[in-house]
Amino acid sequence: MSLDDCVGSLLNDDICILPTETVYGLACSAYSSTAIKKVFKLKGRPCSNPLIVHVLNHDAANEVCHTNDLSKKLAKAFWPGPLTLVLPKRKSIPNILTANLDTVGVRSPAHPEFRRILKSVDIPLAAPSANKSNKLSPTSFDNVKDEFGDNTPPILDGGSCKVGIESTVLDLTSKYPNILRHGSISKDQIQKVIGMEVQCLKKILKLETPIPNSQKSPGQFSKHYCPNTPLILHSSLIKLINVIPEYENDIIILPFKKETLNFDSSAFSILFLSENGDPNEIAYNLYNTLHEADKLNKDKIHASLFEDDFGVFSAINDRLTRASTKLI
Ligand code: TXA
Ligand code: MG
Repeated sequence: MSLDDCVGSLLNDDICILPTETVYGLACSAYSSTAIKKVFKLKGRPCSNPLIVHVLNHDAANEVCHTNDLSKKLAKAFWPGPLTLVLPKRKSIPNILTANLDTVGVRSPAHPEFRRILKSVDIPLAAPSANKSNKLSPTSFDNVKDEFGDNTPPILDGGSCKVGIESTVLDLTSKYPNILRHGSISKDQIQKVIGMEVQCLKKILKLETPIPNSQKSPGQFSKHYCPNTPLILHSSLIKLINVIPEYENDIIILPFKKETLNFDSSAFSILFLSENGDPNEIAYNLYNTLHEADKLNKDKIHASLFEDDFGVFSAINDRLTRASTKLI
């Protein structure tokens, strides 16, 4: 679909799939309840889980929420980019978008095509990740083209998403800024910019239900981002490598290529997340590799958690944990 066609759809209460630097988004006017309802329905998303709003810059954010000094500093440092700020909402945003919360998540995306569309439509755009609820987020045109079958909305092909995992979500409405979802912008980076302590929503429980302080983070279901093939998560790379020979009929995902495999690996389906363990490269490849693994139609996927649990590794561990059916 062309950029002009997308603009036409968005201005006519319709939805389309747009590339962002993190993942593809299912976009619609943030002011149109009609279009927002279509997004919830197509995703199969519970109406208790709010959408986020995309704007060109901090001034535009102020039209959908009450910005403040902290948000200004953060926007100056990280926008356009993968940081979503949760702030008190303005009346301009329909309650259906925020699941009746009095806050709204807002970010300024960096993808040039998305920004051109924002400029043309001149309204804020809601865009959750363009996947069915609880499934893997799409990071390429190929990943997204069949996600909604015959109901797939028009897609603007913007190539592969450079970041590859969803934005960091930071709540600025509590006493301390609180990371609700890890992403490529880390707690340390945020703390440096605002000069104050940042907290993190605690570890995810392996439950089908939202974690206890779910009002603050309605989207943090423990089961999320799932491939169709069951994913078994090993608590460390060493543990996974020790048992690989037992998994000849499964798919094994390893973090980097250099790892010495002390057996003939030619009989195994092994996918690598990076050349040498660079966390940004791993994040970039994560969903695409899980999509690839799904296409191999094997019984199970095996991957391991990262021992490092800071920065981007926290985001990668978070997505792997929630994508897994079992942790051993
Ligand atoms: O990178 C991204 O954030 C992508 C691209 C398309 O921008 N979008 C995305 O949207 O991941 P979505 O809807 O799949 O995830 C947004 C997350 C959800 O977990 C949602 O619960 C949370 O942000 N969220 C949205 N509004 C919120 C609010 N007012 N308070 C707390 N959490 C909120
Ligand atoms: Mg999502």
